[in-house]
Amino acid sequence: MFNNPTSTNPFRVGLGSRTVPEPCSIVIFGASGDLTRRKLIPALYNLSASGNLPPGVRVIGFARRDKTTEQFRSEMEEATRTFSRRSVDDKLWANFASNVYYFRGDFHIRQSYIDLDRYLSELETSQGFPPRRLFYLSASPDEFPCILNNLRETGLNKIHESNWPRIVLEKPFGNDLASARKLNELVLEVFRESQTFRIDHYLGKETAQNILVLRFANKIFESVWNANYIDHVQISACESLGIGGRAGYYDKAGALRDMVQNHLLQFVCLTAMEPPSDLSPDSIRDEKVKVLRALRPIVGNDVALYTVRAQYTAGRVEGQPVFGYRQETGIPTDSSTETYTALRLDIDNWRWSGVPFFLRTGKRLPKNATEIAIHFKAVPPVLFRSSALDLEENVLVIRIQPDEGASLRIAVKRPGPTVTIEPVKMDFHYRTSFGSVSPDAYERLLLDVMANDSTLFARRDEVEEAWRFVDGIRNAWDQGICKLLFYSAGSWGPEEADRLIAKHGTFWRRL
Ligand code: BG6
Repeated sequence: MFNNPTSTNPFRVGLGSRTVPEPCSIVIFGASGDLTRRKLIPALYNLSASGNLPPGVRVIGFARRDKTTEQFRSEMEEATRTFSRRSVDDKLWANFASNVYYFRGDFHIRQSYIDLDRYLSELETSQGFPPRRLFYLSASPDEFPCILNNLRETGLNKIHESNWPRIVLEKPFGNDLASARKLNELVLEVFRESQTFRIDHYLGKETAQNILVLRFANKIFESVWNANYIDHVQISACESLGIGGRAGYYDKAGALRDMVQNHLLQFVCLTAMEPPSDLSPDSIRDEKVKVLRALRPIVGNDVALYTVRAQYTAGRVEGQPVFGYRQETGIPTDSSTETYTALRLDIDNWRWSGVPFFLRTGKRLPKNATEIAIHFKAVPPVLFRSSALDLEENVLVIRIQPDEGASLRIAVKRPGPTVTIEPVKMDFHYRTSFGSVSPDAYERLLLDVMANDSTLFARRDEVEEAWRFVDGIRNAWDQGICKLLFYSAGSWGPEEADRLIAKHGTFWRRL
């Protein structure tokens, strides 16, 4: 069984070429937004409370609303008390909050950036820290060009020591290949690729980081990680939540752009990539890009064969009645945006030829569950003939969330005088093995930006290759090649998704 860790010298290296996080000023553009309250400030507080935030990190919220630093601190305290993964300690909060500031400015007004520069310089000089700045773009993507241009025109992008300043861009990174390219071109006119960190928060999740360790630090898995032994792979990201207050964004995006283009394709890459020659960010990302390039395009009429798109109607989730998507506030009553998608993709390379990857993601499903399941081939039905019908194939499940961990299904003999075979699970749970709640993805990712480690961030070519693949599907959908289906909120999606996977002689895992 997967047991408690026994080594006194646990595997401690980071995935990439991690250096030490450096103190800096983190400027959050879009400080009044949801992400700042729900994720960024709680993550920074948790880093500070656990002693992982380097001394001298200052957080500056940049937004248009008129408020004082004191007001901002108290709003952020309330948010952190609501959203932090662990309860807030008054003393630790006070210590962290003393380095949190509010700067009132307008994305569109150049003078705001000139004033910001002066404000940061004063803070840096008074506290004796070098002018290292981390610009976090947590604003609406429509504002990115304006912010980037202003940073350039006011010289805030000027490079000094070791890749400072750095820029972090939140998703969505474009909404198709053309817009992603355009944005990349602009970003790279203002910053170098090495200063640019495109967030995909799924890469910061503890179990996602574990995929490569599981594969490449254990002899037993990698030797069977190929088409000779693997029948198919299922990747699921199911959510019980609806679209929250994000109607404007979501209705333009839909599940394919919102989840598949980034998070799910990143999982495909981590699951399918070849071993990198070392753990440097570029070696890892080179291998991931090769997977994206090997994806067989799904275009034209194939889109109807290999993809399913659907939208939720009213139903019950976790016992509560919920609206249908078209009744959600801000959604047009004739919207054809998909809130669920399932697809089969194929990777045309030596390792994966003939092994389908089935992906599904949706909102308003019965529960939250994200996992990668590797289904191995069945043994030949030669021995245990009488029990063979009950023989289930081995499945390695990497549970991303909740209940992070991994399990391996194996066949065993049920005790007794006859040979009756039953599947059992060898199960590893982070919580019981390591006894603590895993850090939030944003904690890890923020620390990595400060440490100049871009391993867990999407490189330009990754983003563009992923869009290239998704655009093929999207274009066919837009031409009406695959009709929009409906599923009741609280169900597991439309039956067509079951048929999609049934063509391969299998079914979706019960989550
Ligand atoms: C975001 C999507 O990237 O990921 C959301 O835009 C989705 O629609 C969210 O709900 C899921 O993230 P998590 O960490 O809650 O699984």
